[in-house]
Amino acid sequence: MRSLSSLSTHYHYLQQLHSPIINRRFSVRPISASSASAANPPSTAEKPQSTATTTGLSIRKIPGNYGLPIIGPIKDRWDYFYNQGRDEYFKSRSQKYQSTVFRANMPPGPFIASNPNVIVLLDGKSFPVLFDTSKVEKRDLFTGTYMPSTNFTGGYRILSYLDPSEPNHTKLKNLLFFLLQSSRDKVIPEFHSTFTQLFETLESELASKGKAAFGDPNDKACFNFLARAFYGVNPADTKLGEKGPTLIALWIFFQLAPLLTLGLPSFLEDPLLHTFQLPPFLVKGSYKKLYDFFYNASGKILDEGEKMGIQREEACHNLLFATCFNSYGGMKILFPSLLKFIGQAGVKLHKQLAEEIRTVVQSNGGTVTMSGMEQMELMKSVVYETLRIDPPVPLQYGKAKKDLVIQSHDAAFEVKKGEMLFGFQPFATKDPNIFSNGEEFVADRFMGDEGEKLLKNVFWSNGPETENPSVENKQCAGKNFVVLVGRLLVVELFMRYDTFEVTTGTSALGSTVTLTSVKRASLD
Ligand code: HEM
Repeated sequence: MRSLSSLSTHYHYLQQLHSPIINRRFSVRPISASSASAANPPSTAEKPQSTATTTGLSIRKIPGNYGLPIIGPIKDRWDYFYNQGRDEYFKSRSQKYQSTVFRANMPPGPFIASNPNVIVLLDGKSFPVLFDTSKVEKRDLFTGTYMPSTNFTGGYRILSYLDPSEPNHTKLKNLLFFLLQSSRDKVIPEFHSTFTQLFETLESELASKGKAAFGDPNDKACFNFLARAFYGVNPADTKLGEKGPTLIALWIFFQLAPLLTLGLPSFLEDPLLHTFQLPPFLVKGSYKKLYDFFYNASGKILDEGEKMGIQREEACHNLLFATCFNSYGGMKILFPSLLKFIGQAGVKLHKQLAEEIRTVVQSNGGTVTMSGMEQMELMKSVVYETLRIDPPVPLQYGKAKKDLVIQSHDAAFEVKKGEMLFGFQPFATKDPNIFSNGEEFVADRFMGDEGEKLLKNVFWSNGPETENPSVENKQCAGKNFVVLVGRLLVVELFMRYDTFEVTTGTSALGSTVTLTSVKRASLD
């Protein structure tokens, strides 16, 4: 066993290794829901005025209601999935109540979640209360108002479901910091080789069929990249072969089905996916194949886990979850999103990005480096803008640890201990009080001093972009890694192509993208 002081030194070392990816010049000012009121609060409707808070905002009773037991939540679920759709579900209620904070039910409700009642937060001012672990508990709510059976994860409650007050949270998060730190030198070269292969596949598909779907080849590239960068193992050389992405898709689908719609007829889909949890035994065999792959590939990380006091089996289930659910699942959504927004922005932006990226790479003797990428201001802004406009994990939850007052731009609201707060992030990060033209993809939004100041309002990692994950918070352990791989994708794209065209659509988990043309980089 290590002494406590050596563990804490180790931890600070890791923290330092994690932070340089992000530009150090950003001011690190934590946001809290009780910060001063915005300059121009919008004038919204009738609000029963009562006590004034210290910030001058009057307390308003939280509007909205949950309806009759069972019937109310089922009605809301049908509105969310079928009658209105997700965005309209929130928008129509916000307009009706003239408030960005209101009560509603969140799916799945009966008979999966015992209590679907939540307080919805839709603005960028109230949302950050979800990051304050002194105010909210984050136990067993990674997927919201229900938790998938632990039989999906070897019988363990995985790190993503642990509150920082639980001792295992610190140990397991440190293990992931170790995993990320130990893969550091492999990320750039492995990314280059797997994504070069991906682009070659897409180009030959384009040549033969005139178009190339990005989804499946991207899934394959992401899984291969993660296996090689994190564990130094090429899946094709093992018993797992090429099956990783298919096995993961099934395993994730079984856990998230209560939150998804596949576009099937509602009278079939709702009872099938949203009423009872799908039984874990049906994916037990798939999970075992993944587990065996990870157990064999991660020996060195498991050794380190043992030194930290984590049994090999528990560590391995956590590595599998972090790699397949958190990392692969996130990249599977983020990468098509990057391609979509950059593709749709058109040739002018492509030209600027190509010029910026190639100039820096050339001045570094032709190599892509982390410090080189720090100089690519437009490329960095494009990645942040994609994470702002289309956060890959859009729903966040936290249960009030005590009686609280939360604030939107135009009112304060009293929340009782034990009530569930729910933030719909895509609205919070398009808040018109914070972002002008928030609905639009503005490629250079985060450039310059004024642009950088806006980064504190980018929340994709379950924390402000100006802050870092730690064992005390619930911010994404892979935050800086994700920004890095997002940047690498844009760099690879524009080292290879002058411009490209896409068509886009939607899927259960995000965007679908099809490449319709690419123009290889010109030599001038
Ligand atoms: C595009 C990729 C990713 C996205 C969008 C993403 C997003 C998130 C979000 C929103 C949360 C907070 C969930 C909540 O509690 O409400 C989270 C937590 C977490 N993420 Fe990520 N993530 C990504 C990649 C990664 C990677 C690469 C890793 C590590 C290898 C990782 C590890 C974790 C862990 C361990 C947690 C729980 C943190 C804790 O318990 O303190 N994620 N992630």
